[in-house]
Amino acid sequence: MSSLGMREMAAALRVLVRGDLNRFLGQGVSETQRFEAALQDLLRVEHALALNSGTSALICALVGAGIGPGDEVLVPAYTWVSTAAAPLAVGAIPVLVDVDESLAIDPADVRRKITPRTKAIIPVHMRNLVADMDSLMAIAREKNLIVIEDASQAAGVEYRGRRVGTIGHAGALSFNQHKNIQSGEGGALLTNDTRIFARAGMYHDVGSYSREGRAGTDEPLFVGLNFRMPELLAAILIPQLRRLDKQLAKRQARRKVIVEELSRKPALRTSPHNDPPNAVGITVLFDTAAAAARFAETTGINHLIDTGRHIYTNWQSVLEQRSFHPRMNPYSWSNGSVGPAKDDCPTTVDILARTCSISVDPEVPIPVLRRLVRRAAARM
Ligand SMILES: Cc1ncc(COP(=O)(O)O)c(C=O)c1O
Repeated sequence: MSSLGMREMAAALRVLVRGDLNRFLGQGVSETQRFEAALQDLLRVEHALALNSGTSALICALVGAGIGPGDEVLVPAYTWVSTAAAPLAVGAIPVLVDVDESLAIDPADVRRKITPRTKAIIPVHMRNLVADMDSLMAIAREKNLIVIEDASQAAGVEYRGRRVGTIGHAGALSFNQHKNIQSGEGGALLTNDTRIFARAGMYHDVGSYSREGRAGTDEPLFVGLNFRMPELLAAILIPQLRRLDKQLAKRQARRKVIVEELSRKPALRTSPHNDPPNAVGITVLFDTAAAAARFAETTGINHLIDTGRHIYTNWQSVLEQRSFHPRMNPYSWSNGSVGPAKDDCPTTVDILARTCSISVDPEVPIPVLRRLVRRAAARM
């Protein structure tokens, strides 16, 4: 989580004094436009669309790419439930795919789950741990699939020299309270595809009928929802974005300390990572669930099987295939897709039961972190 300070307070105050709280109703360049430009610059991506949440960003990306009823979207079985809810929101069916020991979607299982109805893959970069994007993009090219990166938990993190969220056809970021930069709620869509950007832009602004010049394509106007980012959020995100790389470097420094401590005990093995030189997050993989549980008895260490709605087996509404109205339920027109079931991904459950994560929060002093890891290691 990013902590807020004087710069965020001053930025919020400036917006309040000016009194323009909506990006489209003030004079001159809005805070939201400035934030989008800063995102484009830092992440090296052609288009950024600021939104009110990461869930909205996923939905806008799917709408932008033309995903809808009759389509299947491959999602990992370990992610926040929004990754599966977003396809349902546009009328598509989420299909669960196992993660591998890196905790990201397993490219081999992606191949197994592709059907003639598959239109997109949503790899998720959980806990600042990157997915195997090279393998996934190769599969997408071969099978003509759209890739929407869910980088909600990994804003700014790099995979082989590129920022996550900018590698696939579109990417989603979240700025909720737990994320690398935060505004309580908030999100952004990233893309280098002008058509995806134009369609997402229309959708997030109830069809943008009053926003001449925003669309940038000859896409006819269609109806959307209101997913707009308020000015106050954009204002407090800008200074955090400026500090993001420094913050990620602090996380990397903490990761190095943990790796060093773990290497003292052969029983403690860091999980495989898809880009070790750029790694930011860290998890520890055990041979048994009991060993992982023992390690996680130390405060500050999470046993991943205990992380609630990040695991598909706890997505009650998705597994029970219930939507807000029977005739708006994608499962009722699913064209042969069966939808997620509780026993779809036993490998994921097994891996999560054997994995612990250690927080690399930049606010935690390195000596404190070192002591914490030593204490946990002493149990093993
Ligand atoms: C992996 C992932 N995807 C999507 C989301 C949804 O983001 P938001 O809470 O901003 O809607 C989250 C938020 O926790 C997340 O962690």
